[in-house]
Amino acid sequence: MGNFFGMFQQKKRRPRPNDTERHFSQGDILVSKTDTKGIITYANSHFVKISGYTQDELLGQPHNITRHPKMPRIIFKMLWNEIKNGREINAYVVNLSKDGSFYWVYANVTPSFDAKNKIIGYHSTRRRPSRKGLKEIQPLYETLRQHEIVGGIKESEKVLNSILESKGVKYDEFIYRLQHG
Ligand SMILES: Cc1cc2nc3c(=O)[nH]c(=O)nc-3n(C[C@H](O)[C@H](O)[C@H](O)COP(=O)(O)O)c2cc1C
Repeated sequence: MGNFFGMFQQKKRRPRPNDTERHFSQGDILVSKTDTKGIITYANSHFVKISGYTQDELLGQPHNITRHPKMPRIIFKMLWNEIKNGREINAYVVNLSKDGSFYWVYANVTPSFDAKNKIIGYHSTRRRPSRKGLKEIQPLYETLRQHEIVGGIKESEKVLNSILESKGVKYDEFIYRLQHG
């Protein structure tokens, strides 16, 4: 709708982030699925619970409903580039709950294919992140975000690539090693 009222309605109110961290148990797996555009089509009870939303509030919404402003944009750019091209990716993500609290996850995001190998949606399985992983990732994401504020996503991409190059690994492998190493 192009009228004023329609535009007003479309304006989404974002939760205001606060310093409260949410945790979940070691064995819990937080699952959500999306269509090809990133619209949430499924959320399991663990994911619903930590998100602070009801299942009805989540389904049909773009997945950036759980986006935390501390996440660097470059990570999502990389994520979409991988999954759109049929590959899976591991990533550390900090998410924003409805009440403004936050929670860190170690996510494995994969495309889902139909019988003809066409991508029909995506699937994210989140586990508790390792302490070692978070200790490295938090300052790295902060650095990336600072570069984004100054020079945009091009700048954070350059910085990320040079850090990974110096370590001799790709992002996915770097993350996998942090979680499991
Ligand atoms: C299966 C799947 C799960 C996703 N899970 C999350 C998530 O938990 N948190 C998040 O911020 N983005 C998630 N995303 C990425 C979002 O679609 C989006 O790219 C991201 O929130 C950045 O949004 P923005 O470009 O509007 O800033 C997921 C995407 C897919 C396909």
